[in-house]
Amino acid sequence: MNNYTDNPKAKGRSFLSTQDWPKEDLVRLLDLARAMKDGKLPGRPALAGKSVALLFFNPSLRTRTSMELAAWQLGGKAVVLQPGKDAWPIEVKDGVVMNGEAEEHVKEAVKVLAGFCDAIAVRAFPKFRDWSLDKKDPVLSAVAKWSDKPVINMETIVHPLQELALAMTMREHFGPDLKGKKFLLTWTYHPKPLNTAVANSAAMIATRMGMDLTILRPAGYDLDDDFMAVAMRNARENGQKITVTDNIEEAYRDKGFVYAKSWGSLKYFGRWDEEKPIREGLKRFIVDRAKMALTNRAFFSHCLPMRRNVKATDEVVDSGQSLIYEEANNRLHTAKALLASIL
Ligand code: CP
Repeated sequence: MNNYTDNPKAKGRSFLSTQDWPKEDLVRLLDLARAMKDGKLPGRPALAGKSVALLFFNPSLRTRTSMELAAWQLGGKAVVLQPGKDAWPIEVKDGVVMNGEAEEHVKEAVKVLAGFCDAIAVRAFPKFRDWSLDKKDPVLSAVAKWSDKPVINMETIVHPLQELALAMTMREHFGPDLKGKKFLLTWTYHPKPLNTAVANSAAMIATRMGMDLTILRPAGYDLDDDFMAVAMRNARENGQKITVTDNIEEAYRDKGFVYAKSWGSLKYFGRWDEEKPIREGLKRFIVDRAKMALTNRAFFSHCLPMRRNVKATDEVVDSGQSLIYEEANNRLHTAKALLASIL
């Protein structure tokens, strides 16, 4: 699926993908997040004297804020660095002649940060030119290779922190056992080709929790085969199935949870001028009241940021069934539980 090369000397536990964690550990983490949300904090600050470096190669509102506050509320310190903006541009390939933009190699950057800090967290989106290269998750893999401290994925080609918040939110509304609940992951129109990370993650966490997953996507917008294989294995292990369809009415019918996300076509990856006219013909995939009426009074959510009346209508986003703010809010509680667990 990816080329994470966890440093064998790494101390503590990394969080690169939820698939690396046993389900019972994920559930324990979600229970801890819920206890923290209820104000049942550990007796002493869990991160007293500890620090985490947050490396942002791409912008963020929720991830940055929740991780910074999580560290601070637990008595620790987060140091935010944006390579190429307020920190040196970083080269991640080994053995290259560094005569381009990068001033610093990832080996030095990571070894220095791992010397200062107790964990390193990374956000590094795909370059959107060649999926076969992006799929190797080169930045996260390089950080994991050189760090002897735990590494946290803050969204690369998967978004495990979002998975935690999504799972926590669904458990709060369906109860702790999500098995058999009908989850729809729907592709939506967006004017730009976006990362498949949240969609990969939604498919993985929904099936991991034993949900009945339907993926609604137009032809040509299938998720990567390797992530689908993981989701199918999760589903099989839970006695569930996955339905992939382009039939909008069938997909929405009887669902209990509708999760909206847009992503770029892997079939046209890097050839975005060719993809654009296809995408422009797919605006009907917007989540609206008529589609939600086909469901079993489904909850609606989205990871945010979200373009209103492009991905979902105001009516849906502002309805009583919308959980967008709860899911975003749960990013803080799950971030705290994660930091407390791995540090
Ligand atoms: N959902 C999410 O990760 O939001 P940000 O991109 O704002 O961090």
